[in-house]
Amino acid sequence: MGIEKKLKVAVVGCGNIGTGAHIGNYAKNEGVELAWFCDIIPERADEMAEKHGGIAVYDYHELLDKDIDLVSVCTHNDMHAPISIDHLHRFPACGEGCPVRKARRAHFAGSFGDAAGRP
Ligand SMILES: NC(=O)c1ccc[n+]([C@@H]2O[C@H](COP(=O)([O-])OP(=O)(O)OC[C@H]3O[C@@H](n4cnc5c(N)ncnc54)[C@H](O)[C@@H]3O)[C@@H](O)[C@H]2O)c1
Repeated sequence: MGIEKKLKVAVVGCGNIGTGAHIGNYAKNEGVELAWFCDIIPERADEMAEKHGGIAVYDYHELLDKDIDLVSVCTHNDMHAPISIDHLHRFPACGEGCPVRKARRAHFAGSFGDAAGRP
């Protein structure tokens, strides 16, 4: 039986880990549609969109109202929390929720603490 509905994925940050570990592995998974690529360096997002057939954007805010099932946040550490929290705020709007996958788990708690104004 084939896959009925592909998971629509957005990757924010198309640098080393974004293109290698995240996009590289999503591309091998027939259950995934690489739908959106975001980077503040436009040519990085453009290159991935051209290669994988998705859409390139250069500001992650453009993704917040889009039909996305999962977001990989692959920017530098200081932007992990703001980008993840903005996407998690989509929960009430998108019903089933929008899981967020971050590039490196070790800094997650600290990043969220910083974003919430806590040490
Ligand atoms: N490189 C590795 O081997 C490795 C391994 C494990 C974890 N990580 C983690 O992965 C994360 C990214 O590391 P990297 O090596 O891929 O860095 P990188 O500099 O190669 O890539 C980061 C990308 O994010 C983009 N970016 C920055 N701010 C952005 C924003 N606001 N919106 C959209 N794009 C933005 C940058 O332009 C860049 O293309 C870091 O948290 C790092 O600790 C990296």
